[in-house]
Amino acid sequence: MVIYYSLGGKTKTYAEKLAGALGDKAFRLEGVGKSKNVVLAAFTALVTGGKVKTLPVIEEDTLYICAPIWAGKPSPFVAYFLKKANVSDKKVHFVLTCADTDPAKYVSNLEDDLAKYGGKVWVFCSQDEGAVDANVRSVVS
Ligand SMILES: Cc1cc2nc3c(=O)[nH]c(=O)nc-3n(C[C@H](O)[C@H](O)[C@H](O)COP(=O)(O)O)c2cc1C
Repeated sequence: MVIYYSLGGKTKTYAEKLAGALGDKAFRLEGVGKSKNVVLAAFTALVTGGKVKTLPVIEEDTLYICAPIWAGKPSPFVAYFLKKANVSDKKVHFVLTCADTDPAKYVSNLEDDLAKYGGKVWVFCSQDEGAVDANVRSVVS
């Protein structure tokens, strides 16, 4: 199962292509104060701790969480989801997008933190839209 948060749509593209490649469904996490305004959305997420409207029902053993990097970490909705959903018996992979052209630095920063979920961490620069298909292939291969 693919679970994602996306404000501007870049991560949504990744999540939907990944779900397609896996033959899986994609569930969108929506912040409670959902706003298309970046500053408002980020501020609301900070105030609400990344609270989301609805949590998905998870039946699969393997999850792919797709989210943008905000201030060096997966956006706060991911932490909220991981706290509320019981994922202790699941393998959780992270597919993250960022604006930085050096996404590798986020992989090394986050890998240790996210290792406890048993999966892998990928970070892709979302500015490079021509690379989405190849990037998604590298995740599923
Ligand atoms: C509040 C906020 C903080 C961000 N912080 C970072 C950051 O620390 N590093 C980075 O490379 N990109 C950062 N970005 C850019 C996003 O990670 C990037 O544009 C992402 O691909 C957007 O995904 P989306 O279109 O699915 O929302 C930030 C964006 C927002 C809105």
